[in-house]
Amino acid sequence: RIAYVNGRYLPHDAAGVHIEDRGYQFADGVYEVCEIRHGVIVDLTRHLDRLDRSLSEIRISPPMSRAALVQVIREVARRNHVRNGLFYMQVTRGVARRDHVFPNAETAPSLVITAKSTDPKVIAAKNANGLKAITLPDNRWDRVDIKTVGLLPNVMARQAAKEAGAQEAIYVDARGMVTEGAATNVWMVDADGQLVTRPAEHGILRGITRTGLMDVARALSIPVVEREFSREEMLGAREVFITAATSICFPIVEIDGKTIGNGHPGTFSEKIRSAFFEIAE
Ligand code: PDD
Repeated sequence: RIAYVNGRYLPHDAAGVHIEDRGYQFADGVYEVCEIRHGVIVDLTRHLDRLDRSLSEIRISPPMSRAALVQVIREVARRNHVRNGLFYMQVTRGVARRDHVFPNAETAPSLVITAKSTDPKVIAAKNANGLKAITLPDNRWDRVDIKTVGLLPNVMARQAAKEAGAQEAIYVDARGMVTEGAATNVWMVDADGQLVTRPAEHGILRGITRTGLMDVARALSIPVVEREFSREEMLGAREVFITAATSICFPIVEIDGKTIGNGHPGTFSEKIRSAFFEIAE
């Protein structure tokens, strides 16, 4: 595997950044994960738009022009021969002597890009069987709309899920309302059969897959209701599923030990997932 690190293509095992990179010391950076399907990067423009937004919110200037970045991205995908997999891109505020305040304006941001293949069989099995989740209080800061590499709460949450025999942790805010998963957005089909997801204005990351699925739902004439919902409502939902570039759309069949719907992956997530793949192709 080959990684791109600040202008160079390096063997993955030997690719590193300096110990005083601000990403390493302060989690002072942002990232994107994109899906590669049949050699094509899914929704690249939307991911790059979100990267630009994240950078501007934390006041890091883009490491290069959009056109140059797209070239590097394509080169990393090509050199790694990835047909189906994931693409990781990270920008930090660069290397400087440790000091909380921003380094001087000449400090170049660090850019790292990697790509890896994923196993379609593993993904298919998750879709066929569904996943388990736990809920946890949302203990993150209030700027989760920025896709920052500061993911310690998410790391702790996913680990807690794993230790409970589950695959995702779903955050619940102080009012008992579901926000999102540790690395996914959450959807449900409510008692009226409506497809519901939380509005992206507050408390969640505006997932690119979430936006893509909304396009798909529109194309299928399935209304999407953007409203908040509580943990209790979710536990009683007909269907729950999570979305992210890493998973597109995984059904959740059990939350906190309680069976969701009939305990099997639901028809909505199935229908939307297949339509997503057709439309994307
Ligand atoms: N995570 N919410 C959070 C907190 C996330 O970390 C992610 C993605 C999403 C879904 O966003 P998208 O559809 O754009 O992938 C929602 C990535 C995949 C990760 O950290 O690995």
